[in-house]
Amino acid sequence: MNCCAGIMQGLHKLLLFHFLTCLGQNGHGSKIINGQKVPENSMLYMVSVHNNRGHVCGGSLVSDQHVLTAALCDKKNASHIFLGPHSVKENVNPYYVEGKVIPRTKNGKVIDDIMLLTLHKKVELGNSVQTIPLPESNSEVKENEQCQVAGWGKTSTDGTIVDELRMVNVSVIDQQVCKEKWPDIPPNFICAGGYGTNKGFCEGDSGGPLVCNGVAVGVASVTKKFNCDHPDVPNISTNISKHIQWIRKIINQTKELE
Ligand SMILES: *[C@@H]1O[C@H](CO)[C@@H](O)[C@H](O)[C@H]1NC(C)=O
Ligand SMILES: *[C@@H]1O[C@H](CO)[C@@H](O)[C@H](O)[C@H]1NC(C)=O
Ligand SMILES: *[C@@H]1O[C@H](CO)[C@@H](O)[C@H](O)[C@H]1NC(C)=O
Ligand SMILES: *[C@@H]1O[C@H](CO)[C@@H](O)[C@H](O)[C@H]1NC(C)=O
Ligand SMILES: *[C@@H]1O[C@H](CO)[C@@H](O)[C@H](O)[C@H]1NC(C)=O
Repeated sequence: MNCCAGIMQGLHKLLLFHFLTCLGQNGHGSKIINGQKVPENSMLYMVSVHNNRGHVCGGSLVSDQHVLTAALCDKKNASHIFLGPHSVKENVNPYYVEGKVIPRTKNGKVIDDIMLLTLHKKVELGNSVQTIPLPESNSEVKENEQCQVAGWGKTSTDGTIVDELRMVNVSVIDQQVCKEKWPDIPPNFICAGGYGTNKGFCEGDSGGPLVCNGVAVGVASVTKKFNCDHPDVPNISTNISKHIQWIRKIINQTKELE
């Protein structure tokens, strides 16, 4: 449990409890709350991250050989991915996880809920698969800015699993307001959706991008409540901008090895 305790450093104990609960009990499926089906030919960067039993996390294609997802998906033994905003019935062409990088402190603790996967081979980009742009190192999102999150699967706590990718519009929540609801939140989160609204993501959507203005600004992270019908705290995403330098470096290194 080293990795999880690390991610949760500084976060409320309650969150740690629910985080571990999610890891233990919610290996499958995902829940986009009060969303809609993703229109055709959009979100072509969406990736479904799998272990040997099925879908465990969302993710986004950030280069022709790299996927950005959440660090907690490592705990779920993520082994391969499927591309595209497809129906899960079309999962026929797996790309295997050949390398993974999770930012850690010197003593091996995970700092933030973010992970970069290197795929075993290059993806052919085109009309059905595309990469999503990453933010600059000083990128800001404004309060109330409209952004999107997406995921596969259940649409409520007790809902049935759907196989089409669904998305929902969420707005960015002021950091101060967010801090009141998550008193011990570390600085590296963006809060959007899930508070003052019935829209958001839930356990299992983790790893998918928070998309603002067509840019992946966040990685959907843990949720406070195992039950997904309690919009009492903001949904939180890891701020990609804080991590952009090592992400670009690794993407660049992979290219140089060719
Ligand atoms: C991941 O793999 C380890 C080692 O094989 C196993 O103990 C653990 O149960 C697996 N976890 C999941 C969520 O599959
Ligand atoms: C995300 O990180 C960037 C870079 O450090 C920072 O400029 C921005 O304010 C952060 N966003 C939020 C919502 O904290
Ligand atoms: C979500 O936002 C997008 C882009 O701002 C907009 O085109 C779409 O109609 C919105 N969908 C809903 C259900 O509000
Ligand atoms: C995210 O937001 C949705 C919609 O409000 C909510 O149902 C879900 O519980 C939230 N997840 C959190 C805050 O952990
Ligand atoms: C990749 O790394 C090389 C050598 O370190 C550097 O010259 C180049 O500018 C880098 N490219 C990008 C896109 O970061």
